[in-house]
Amino acid sequence: MVDIHCHLLPGIDDGPVDWAEALALARMFAEAGVEKIVVTPHFIPGVYSWTREEGEALHRKLVDRLRREGLVLETFLSAEVGIFPELPQWIEEDKVPLMPTGRHLLLEAPMYGSESVVRDMAYAVLSVGVTPIFAHPERSPLFMEVGLARDLVASEGVFQLDAGGLIGRWGGEIKRISMNLIDAGLVRYVASDSHGPGRREPSEFVMAAEEVEKLWGPEIRKALFHENPLELTKVPPKL
Ligand SMILES: [Fe+2]
Repeated sequence: MVDIHCHLLPGIDDGPVDWAEALALARMFAEAGVEKIVVTPHFIPGVYSWTREEGEALHRKLVDRLRREGLVLETFLSAEVGIFPELPQWIEEDKVPLMPTGRHLLLEAPMYGSESVVRDMAYAVLSVGVTPIFAHPERSPLFMEVGLARDLVASEGVFQLDAGGLIGRWGGEIKRISMNLIDAGLVRYVASDSHGPGRREPSEFVMAAEEVEKLWGPEIRKALFHENPLELTKVPPKL
């Protein structure tokens, strides 16, 4: 399994508070059979402010700590990016950690705000050559109407569901929306959105995969939990 949304770096956002927590979480992922993780700390200027260089330095430490702990887990640095006005410009200035492909961005589906802001930002990000992947649309009131969801997907925007929603962590309504989005063919990835031990643990990710297999079959499970996420970890060769 490949996880493309996970708060695994310590002390940078509301994920693990220290290395002990981060490594305990990493061990759970390895034991759950997850092979690759794209680490995605929140990136919201003024709230969770960090530079790409700081993120890369912390990620290098993670790689070193995993190796020393003997944990077989390949990790990549990216971010869960909030919507802020300068985002398209910052992407062009290479200030925002994208997915390893360099062409995708994990964009947090806002919990409030207006539909037009989200739509305009999606198109602005697309206009600088990057595809927005909306993180957990099932929990955003803006996406509960399938209209906006379909509109954005038609423009190549894509959706990532959180595993917790599929196993009822946030109740029956969020589960129903999650299932509807899969039924409508609008979901490309499911991710853990884990924040640390006791906070959306890897076991939920596994349970969600089993639920998806039960309801939609092994091929859909493979696509949402392995094949599609794996595509995002492919670093293009340097020309
Ligand atoms: Fe997250």
